[in-house]
Amino acid sequence: MAEPLLALREVGHSFGGLSVLRSVTFDVPEGGIIGLIGPNGSGKTTLFNIVTGYIRPLAGTITYRGAPLVRETIQQRGLQGLVRTFQTPQVFEQMTVLENVMVGCTKLTRTTMLQDLLRTPAARGQMREIRARAEAACERFGLTALRELPAASLTAGQRRILEIARAVIGEPRLLLLDEPSSGLNVQEIDGLREWIVRLNEEGITILLVSHDMGLMTVARTVHTLYFGEIIASGDMAAIQRDPRVREVYLGV
Ligand SMILES: Nc1ncnc2c1ncn2[C@@H]1O[C@H](COP(=O)(O)OP(=O)(O)OP(=O)(O)O)[C@@H](O)[C@H]1O
Ligand SMILES: [Mg+2]
Repeated sequence: MAEPLLALREVGHSFGGLSVLRSVTFDVPEGGIIGLIGPNGSGKTTLFNIVTGYIRPLAGTITYRGAPLVRETIQQRGLQGLVRTFQTPQVFEQMTVLENVMVGCTKLTRTTMLQDLLRTPAARGQMREIRARAEAACERFGLTALRELPAASLTAGQRRILEIARAVIGEPRLLLLDEPSSGLNVQEIDGLREWIVRLNEEGITILLVSHDMGLMTVARTVHTLYFGEIIASGDMAAIQRDPRVREVYLGV
């Protein structure tokens, strides 16, 4: 068996003594699309926060590309290809769409902060390169007509796409999408699904959190969290048949 890209073992966490994740164990195989579902407050976003370095887990281990992730910062994890989007899109409202996309590329810069301040030719050259990449990403994700507008003027659906464009420009190896379809209409969700499939075909492994069961069929394996514990895993058809999942989550 090939080594998984990401392996979670007995991951546990609590806030103020209240346990929110318990013994969470699963693998994300390289090249896969893995889903994570569960009722509100079951710990999905907390798990994303732990994997991407926003929170340190109180128990368990996380292994990425065969090495344990412990003290790596959010930025270091990003450099290693761990890139996320947020449940509530995080856009810089006053910056343009293009500038927002460029932010996803800052990790690709090689000049130091000092050089940026001094505006050396090397820094200027890299800025041009980042801008060109961001323009290409805007083109690719259908944002070209919007690129000079402030992000504040975007619809919910456009913000989602902007976040994905910014994440992809960071060259993710594992892309974590937290409720990417929330706030989107049916057509936009279809478009999102196509993007997920295409990015996956290009070699990006995906960990997807969604309440949208239709969108979730894109995942080969889905894990169900309930009060911080994985209660069922399998493809969407198996999950929907699972009596415990039906009872506690699907409410049928
Ligand atoms: N920073 C925090 N401090 C205290 N409690 C928190 C914090 N973040 C999350 N929680 C609590 O941890 C639990 C899990 O929350 P989390 O946001 O991970 O759930 P979720 O599965 O993503 O829910 P949703 O579907 O609503 O997004 C909830 O009870 C939540 O209130
Ligand atoms: Mg959440």
